[in-house]
Amino acid sequence: MTVKHSLILALESSCDETAASVVKDGRVILSNVIATQHDLHEQYGGVVPEIASRAHIEKILPVIDQAIKQASVTFDDLDAIAVGNRPGLIGSLLIAVSAAKSLAWSLGKPLIGVDHVQAHLYAADLVMDANLPWPEPVYPALGLVVSGGHTCLYDVTGALHMSRMGRTIDDAIGEAYDKAAVILDAGYPGGPLVDKLAQSGDVTAVAPLPISMLGKTSLDFSYSGLKTALLYRVRGKPTGKGKQVKFEYSAKDLSQTDKANLAAAFQAAAIGAINKKIHRALDQLDEQGKMPKRLLVGGGVSANSQLRKQMLALGQERGLKVCLPPMSVCLDNAAMLGGLAHHRFITSDFDDLNLPVIATSSM
Ligand code: KG4
Ligand code: ZN
Repeated sequence: MTVKHSLILALESSCDETAASVVKDGRVILSNVIATQHDLHEQYGGVVPEIASRAHIEKILPVIDQAIKQASVTFDDLDAIAVGNRPGLIGSLLIAVSAAKSLAWSLGKPLIGVDHVQAHLYAADLVMDANLPWPEPVYPALGLVVSGGHTCLYDVTGALHMSRMGRTIDDAIGEAYDKAAVILDAGYPGGPLVDKLAQSGDVTAVAPLPISMLGKTSLDFSYSGLKTALLYRVRGKPTGKGKQVKFEYSAKDLSQTDKANLAAAFQAAAIGAINKKIHRALDQLDEQGKMPKRLLVGGGVSANSQLRKQMLALGQERGLKVCLPPMSVCLDNAAMLGGLAHHRFITSDFDDLNLPVIATSSM
């Protein structure tokens, strides 16, 4: 017998967010609690793994309690415990995975380990209000994951079924945003601050930054050239090598207007690459008679103002339904894991207490 309904508690601690969420029937978010650690990592300009895992230990139980309370459910009401067990920082992943195993074992509930990257692609199908219509997701879809670790295109044929069409060959787009923030001295966390800075800039006021297409048919991405181009534009010519390298200027020599214009140029190239590759992927799928019904977008960079605008415009141009995640589930969260886990729950596809933590994604 196929069980259609589910109430799943999901836990997430793959990087620097400790999160717990209760999701109903794979679609409706009853609670979505996220404790960020940005303040702990700010002074280092990036996530320090040891600090992250220690903070997860402190946050995980209060975050779980809050998620249960906000959802107005009890532990007994739950049908399963889901957890992101890949990819991520091993020491961080271990915290939510250990908590999920303890809960599953002590409550006698099934355990479901979820791939974080696959879950990002599911976020656009989550809803915050059960009273609004939430039609069944249709496939095939073209999937775009844009996060701190991934920049990938997928041919998605179901919530749990996808094959990769393209990926970054060097930096991920989120990573490029974070590095751009350091180059522009824009603050931490980089992505949202560069996005904000770019919104006040004039992209036409500076020469464009390069978009890497990697040949005529490639669906892969490359962001390291863009990052270097921005570095040279901000700091001028380098002399010397390695640790001895010296530049003509620094971001401190730029006016706020210059910085904003350069951020806008960076954003135009970074998002422009996504736009162009999606058009290319759609052309290729169309030629193969596999035109997708939807464009699914997920990952932290799906919160980007320009990306959201451009994806919606692209959808209009190509007659494609564009599904963007609600802002509350763009960045790392547990709701996307709880939603995706439903599709394993309904086929009784569970993990046992040997569920491993894995640094990389198989997606
Ligand atoms: O999905 P996510 O929370 O974590 C990973 O799975 O990596 O994505 C985090 C990334 C970071 O690199 C962050 O700078 C970027 O998403 N990000 C943004 C924006 N908000 C977050 N990048 C550009 N514009 C934004 N508004
Ligand atoms: Zn993520």
